[in-house]
Amino acid sequence: MKVLIVGSGGREHAIAWKVSQSKKVDKIYCAPGNAGISELAECVAIGAMEIDKLVAFAKEKAIDLTIIGMDDPLVAGIVDAFEAEGLRVFGPRKNAAILEGSKAFSKDLMKKYNIPTAAYEVFTEADKAIEYLESKAEFPIVLKADGLALGKGVLICEDLAQAKEGVAQIMTDKKFGSAGNKMVIESFMTGREVSVLSFVDGNTIRIMTSAQDHKRAKDGDQGLNTGGMGTFSPSPFYTKEVDEFCKKYIYQATVDAMKAEGREFKGIIFFGLMLTPNGPKVLEYNARFGDPEAQVVIPRMKNDIVEVMEACIDGTLNHVELEFEDNAAVCVVLASDGYPVAYEKGKVISGLERFKDTDNYYVFHAGTKLGENGEVLTNGGRVLGVVAKGTSLKQARLNAYSASTWIEFENKYMRHDIGKAIDEAEE
Ligand code: GLY
Repeated sequence: MKVLIVGSGGREHAIAWKVSQSKKVDKIYCAPGNAGISELAECVAIGAMEIDKLVAFAKEKAIDLTIIGMDDPLVAGIVDAFEAEGLRVFGPRKNAAILEGSKAFSKDLMKKYNIPTAAYEVFTEADKAIEYLESKAEFPIVLKADGLALGKGVLICEDLAQAKEGVAQIMTDKKFGSAGNKMVIESFMTGREVSVLSFVDGNTIRIMTSAQDHKRAKDGDQGLNTGGMGTFSPSPFYTKEVDEFCKKYIYQATVDAMKAEGREFKGIIFFGLMLTPNGPKVLEYNARFGDPEAQVVIPRMKNDIVEVMEACIDGTLNHVELEFEDNAAVCVVLASDGYPVAYEKGKVISGLERFKDTDNYYVFHAGTKLGENGEVLTNGGRVLGVVAKGTSLKQARLNAYSASTWIEFENKYMRHDIGKAIDEAEE
């Protein structure tokens, strides 16, 4: 098979690595890819949102399967465009990707189908939102821009002044662009966050192993929200009871709700869960692998990922059982100092060769590019995800932090408390 992967981050590198293990695959392309992905795939200079060019490329190269890693092209309808040309593609169609593309849609869906989530209201006018905040809100409160906003469109506001400022940013100043044409105001939930990824074929859902992300830039969950500074898998908080509850009230219920709405979902559903004192609730849905959740979940997966994706497309996922290794993995993101605000690029990265042929250690590139002489350069805020497995979460964490010292580049920055929750789980 010839496979095309669309995207350029650590998630797409992890997908490319797993696809390269498939016995069904002879050739991998990635658009646009990065320096790390170029070791596994032929990278082509087409952006993930250049949908017409991607379709033309897939036709020209007779691609057998295209895998969409990123949210923006999914929400824009890339799957529909591929299918219209008779091309096989893994991911939800536009009418199903709305599960991630509109927070108002997903909240209304959960309300209609009794899927546990926080209480909320939807607003299309800033003054109506302010009126609501002044009369009915309890603080802290959560404001969400309706559309995609690079994971940054969620604001937790401690008081009325902050909330008014948040409404102005989202709806008046359009800090997140058209994503802020509508907004959701939601009750603040307390508890532990867990990410659960799943494969879905429209009817059947298969749950992957759990993971936990670290969204804030600084140790102790301080600083600004980022795309994710590190992950671990599995989550010790995702107990058998939690799993049973979610299977009964959340996972299949979501797939069935989408089908009932005429929005059959095929692809990945990422359940962002909050384990509240009143039971698990859905914080958000995403319509693709999490980043950097993929980097700790995919290396632990035993199945051939191409076979599972084909089963999703063909509607035969009921014949597939997912298997994960009985171990743990931790990902520490190496970023450029200053991320997520302002940072320098173009710094030479050394130490990458240490990961070659070292079992159970991986370096997934997030923001890198090749220099003129073949050297690998930093090219983004999040630069690399250093991943290590271990027989336990603690061992995996030790291994990942040890491997993070193998890599050097100017202005290297990382959090030092990825997986701190592992210790808390034991207390
Ligand atoms: N790690 C969170 C996300 O991928 O949205």
